[in-house]
Amino acid sequence: MLRVGMIGWRGMVGSVLMQRMREEDAFSGIEAIFFSTSNAGGPAPAESADGAVLRDASDLKKLAACDVLMSCQGGDYTSQVFGPLRTSGWKGYWIDAASTLRMEPDAVIVLDPVNGALIREALAQGTRTFVGGNCTVSLMVMAVGALFQAGLVEWMTTMTYQAASGAGAAHMQELVRQMECLVEPTRASPSETALELDRMMIEAQRTDSIPTREFGVPLAGSLLPWVDRDMPDGQTREEWKGMAETNKILGLYPQVPVDGICVRVGTMRCHSQGLCIKLTKDVPLKDIEQILAGAHAWARVIPNDKESTLRCLTPTAVSGTLMVPVGRLHKLKLGPKYLGAFTVGDQLLWGAAEPLLRMLSILRSHIGS
Ligand code: HSE
Repeated sequence: MLRVGMIGWRGMVGSVLMQRMREEDAFSGIEAIFFSTSNAGGPAPAESADGAVLRDASDLKKLAACDVLMSCQGGDYTSQVFGPLRTSGWKGYWIDAASTLRMEPDAVIVLDPVNGALIREALAQGTRTFVGGNCTVSLMVMAVGALFQAGLVEWMTTMTYQAASGAGAAHMQELVRQMECLVEPTRASPSETALELDRMMIEAQRTDSIPTREFGVPLAGSLLPWVDRDMPDGQTREEWKGMAETNKILGLYPQVPVDGICVRVGTMRCHSQGLCIKLTKDVPLKDIEQILAGAHAWARVIPNDKESTLRCLTPTAVSGTLMVPVGRLHKLKLGPKYLGAFTVGDQLLWGAAEPLLRMLSILRSHIGS
């Protein structure tokens, strides 16, 4: 039976992965070993095949006894154990949510509804390192990757509206605490005018009492046009990943330029993106809609009307689902080769846990387990 080591299964992405694995019955037929960086010897989940005890996540021998290691523990952990494991001769499969290894030449970024063929080819050639993509990129590629694959994209800009979850669980909690701080003063004076409410809001945002330890500034009632650390040429690292990872996921050569501005907004777990696509030719909108709708089982083309858009193309509608709707599709006034689009996706599902869960299943078919 395939021995699968789980690391970082208690964090936010790990918890979503565990939930999805249970829903998909992914623990049956495998021997799951649960590791911990802080609680070795503690009780393991019911699915544990190893005496229901947590193993030490820094124990290279224990790790190396697994055929597959799935890590949602984060980049520092990957940096700490992956190199030594490989150097020690471990030939198992490493499936990771962290960005550390994504751009390594012998690692594949997994997003099988769009690059399943590339994943299977890599497995056949002996690749053993598989990494989930950046959430923003994965969700965008799920939505419009088919246009790239059809050779229809000359370049693309993406303006993002990224949820608090992308920054981590503590950020989601802080966002809600900030919202409470904003609403609190209005409870005392429920009948104020809009301008009076506005004054109370800005005052609450600018006081020292609003919690800002995670974001540094208030996000509630505001937005933050900066995600991740800075890079040369004025980009943030999140913006840099747009082009690097899109091209790697889709195996595009020559590379298609992708760039934009990444913005954090006060939503909980859905990333949204406004896209401007320069097409390689003037393709009729109907054909574009057909390509996008037929891309995979989770693609949804939302009619470009107000009712459908507000019902189906918002974080509120999409959160907690695997659907990746794309809408607002129309030719921009810039010219017939310029396509406007808007897409929304759950950052914790297709943006994080789902590609890993599916990679395990692809791997099991590959090795016949
Ligand atoms: N870097 C992303 C964000 C999250 O901050 O929203 C995961 O890829």
